[in-house]
Amino acid sequence: MQGRSSLTFVFLTVAVTWAVAQHAPPWTEDCRKSTYPPSGPTYRGPVPWYTINLDLPPYKRWHDLLTDKASSLKIIVNSLKDVVNAFVPSGKIMQIVDQKLPGLLGNFPGPYEEEMKGIADVTGIPLGEIISFNIFYEFFTICTSIIAEDKKGHLIHGRNMDFGIFLGWNINNNTWVVTEALKPLTVNLDFRRNNKTVFKASSFAGYVGMLTGFKPGLFSLTLNERFSTNGGYMGVIEWILGKKDAMWIGFITRAVLENSTSYEEARNILIKTKILAPAYFILGGNKTGEGCVITRDRKKCLDVHELDPEQGRWYVVETNYDRWKNPFFLDDRRTAAKMCLNHTTQDKISIPTIYDILSTKPVLNKLTVFTTLMDVAKGQFETYLRDCPDPCIGW
Ligand SMILES: *[C@@H]1O[C@H](CO)[C@@H](O)[C@H](O)[C@H]1NC(C)=O
Ligand SMILES: *[C@@H]1O[C@H](CO)[C@@H](O)[C@H](O)[C@H]1NC(C)=O
Ligand SMILES: *[C@@H]1O[C@H](CO)[C@@H](O)[C@H](O)[C@H]1NC(C)=O
Ligand SMILES: *[C@@H]1O[C@H](CO)[C@@H](O)[C@H](O)[C@H]1NC(C)=O
Ligand SMILES: *[C@@H]1O[C@H](CO)[C@@H](O)[C@H](O)[C@H]1NC(C)=O
Repeated sequence: MQGRSSLTFVFLTVAVTWAVAQHAPPWTEDCRKSTYPPSGPTYRGPVPWYTINLDLPPYKRWHDLLTDKASSLKIIVNSLKDVVNAFVPSGKIMQIVDQKLPGLLGNFPGPYEEEMKGIADVTGIPLGEIISFNIFYEFFTICTSIIAEDKKGHLIHGRNMDFGIFLGWNINNNTWVVTEALKPLTVNLDFRRNNKTVFKASSFAGYVGMLTGFKPGLFSLTLNERFSTNGGYMGVIEWILGKKDAMWIGFITRAVLENSTSYEEARNILIKTKILAPAYFILGGNKTGEGCVITRDRKKCLDVHELDPEQGRWYVVETNYDRWKNPFFLDDRRTAAKMCLNHTTQDKISIPTIYDILSTKPVLNKLTVFTTLMDVAKGQFETYLRDCPDPCIGW
């Protein structure tokens, strides 16, 4: 698969489908104001909290959560199977996933393998399908992340989790099938050791990597997908062939949230560790100037773009494009986000104003599952489920 060009192809295919499904396209809108606290048609509802006890053996950690969420997880795993079987109708691929995938991928390092086995057992879903569910976030996450600081140097980190492109459009209510199926699986997690919070995250039940989280008082971290020709497919093939020195991107994010103890340490690990798929890491710290977008290839770091308030750079924004390149013309969430940040002005940066920006189309779009707002210094972490009723762009 040719990363960028096939993404472009998919966008175009989807654009046509979407244009047929709805006619008048106000793809953008004026920067929203006073949308916080969340209410109205773009707010689907709150996200429940669960505790994950890191003192339990990995096999047992997810039992309570997955007992609650087993039926929602089955729905999404089945809709992914439908997608696969639509491409290869014999059912052969799913047979391979169920029977061969665990063996092909071999041992995962750290707690992940035992955690996935525990999830498979408690839900009754075959381990190969749980592993696939865990891998698929390495490929289809289209997001917006923002770190901004106010005039006093107080940081706010916000993100929209946009997920589910490629994977089926529901013509009855103009929604993405997988995006909708992920909403009931969305959870806030409080990871604890010795009954004390180690980190907090927003995630999907059944996924053991992390894409959005923070360590109160220390740092915040979000991961955005990066599409590149030297993409994650090569990484997975190398992994299967036995070259296991690289980390899965959702797993490195989890490891950093769980075990790093400072912004500097987190930054170093995210810059230096070999990873299986290209990615953007958006990392915020606990004081002025501590915020960066790390643009990663699988093997090396291409760019670290830092906040520099003295030079007037009081925010960084990342969607899914390298900052030195233009975004794909049908997907310019970046300019919209920056324009609204400029409109807001540095004086007025706060959780409510970042929520306003993340509520403005097309930063908010039909792929948006949830919005997370993090204030590291105050220890504040909030996630809200989103909807984007018509008229609204598909991504
Ligand atoms: C759209 O329809 C699907 C399937 O009936 C449902 O699960 C989903 O919640 C609906 N979404 C909205 C925004 O109405
Ligand atoms: C954990 O701490 C909470 C209060 O923060 C307390 O209510 C609870 O009993 C503690 N649990 C254990 C197992 O110590
Ligand atoms: C964090 O560190 C502990 C202790 O070294 C280790 O057992 C655990 O697997 C690490 N967590 C992750 C997610 O790598
Ligand atoms: C900020 O983070 C550093 C580590 O990066 C830590 O030493 C310091 O105590 C933190 N400051 C506050 C106010 O929590
Ligand atoms: C935002 O403001 C900066 C600084 O004035 C400017 O360079 C940039 O072009 C503006 N961006 C947008 C999208 O308005």
